[in-house]
Amino acid sequence: MTTNTEFQAWRVEEKDGEYVGQEQTLKVSDLPEGEVLIRVHHSSLNYKDALSASGNKGVTRSYPHTPGIDAAGEVVESATGEPAVGSQVIVTGYDLGMNTDGGFGEYIRVPASWCVPMPDGWNTRTAMIYGTAGLTAGLCVQKLLQMGARPEQGQVAVSGASGAVGSVAVELLSSLGFEVVAISGKADHAAALKDLGAKDVQGREILEEQKKPLLKPVFANAVDTVGGAPLAELLKQIQPGGSVSICGLVAGPQLPTTVLPFILRGVNLLGVDSVEIPLSEKQSVWKKFSGEWACPKAEASARDIGRAELDDALKAFLKGASAGKIVLDHAK
Ligand SMILES: NC(=O)c1ccc[n+]([C@@H]2O[C@H](COP(=O)([O-])OP(=O)(O)OC[C@H]3O[C@@H](n4cnc5c(N)ncnc54)[C@H](OP(=O)(O)O)[C@@H]3O)[C@@H](O)[C@H]2O)c1
Repeated sequence: MTTNTEFQAWRVEEKDGEYVGQEQTLKVSDLPEGEVLIRVHHSSLNYKDALSASGNKGVTRSYPHTPGIDAAGEVVESATGEPAVGSQVIVTGYDLGMNTDGGFGEYIRVPASWCVPMPDGWNTRTAMIYGTAGLTAGLCVQKLLQMGARPEQGQVAVSGASGAVGSVAVELLSSLGFEVVAISGKADHAAALKDLGAKDVQGREILEEQKKPLLKPVFANAVDTVGGAPLAELLKQIQPGGSVSICGLVAGPQLPTTVLPFILRGVNLLGVDSVEIPLSEKQSVWKKFSGEWACPKAEASARDIGRAELDDALKAFLKGASAGKIVLDHAK
């Protein structure tokens, strides 16, 4: 390996105000400074990658840029000795794929403190089936459990259920014995959601804006991946003492709610961040997914694409038309 070693990356450039992604040849010397050089075998697609690829300056400040907030691969050089050369690692979040070149390139260079050792029994593809989306779903479920959520309390709603975070949340909660109501805008995805374990599938209309500040409390707890006005409606339908883990904003960053669900029903709003949390917290969730939290259906249904298919797949995210997990295979 020399600094002149060439590799392929799906790189986004600004051309006349438009952001265009395409395959480019880079050199290892083009990568940012860092302690660990990793040969990326697999990455995974996330909503944030779609934002980065479309020129969202809240995610990526300057271009040209290689998106990809997730990467799993083999350590090729390690200035600190840990992780060791030849070992496999997972890197998700922190600045990867935002303003540090990310997993849509065949190599990344990152601080050692971003690298999680590959859990026993996993390979780079398995890790990227879960990726940041799976990690986030796991953190959402973990927060509900920490608040005392139990299956006998009643139904758990998952919004944005067909999405990357939502689908793992549906399968994980179902496997833990919860009665899951999947809320999805994709009527043709109902059978797939039931196959993941959802007991019931409801359309997004159950979260349409209503004037009343509180509604019939049908859900004991919930995982919300969409934010915005639908989250405000979901909060009105949570039983007294129930909790809602929130992680996303596909329906908007504003939360047009009143305090009533919180002060009259004691509803708990639990924020989830998968990006900046300590590495040990990420590692603990990865370990669970590689053991008692395994989601075999998500693993079996993941779709593999090559760099040439990235453009279409990322545009589908922005339209809310993406479903399930998509893994980027650099060998494809
Ligand atoms: N906090 C964190 O650390 C963290 C980590 C990962 C992701 N996130 C965020 O979590 C959210 C979900 O991520 P993802 O990777 O699962 O995205 P995704 O695969 O695109 O899934 C989002 C799902 O939300 C639904 N949806 C889309 N547009 C909507 C709209 N306008 N109104 C209501 N529902 C809509 C769709 O599901 P249906 O068609 O089934 O309704 C869509 O599949 C994103 O906002 C992402 O940025 C946050």
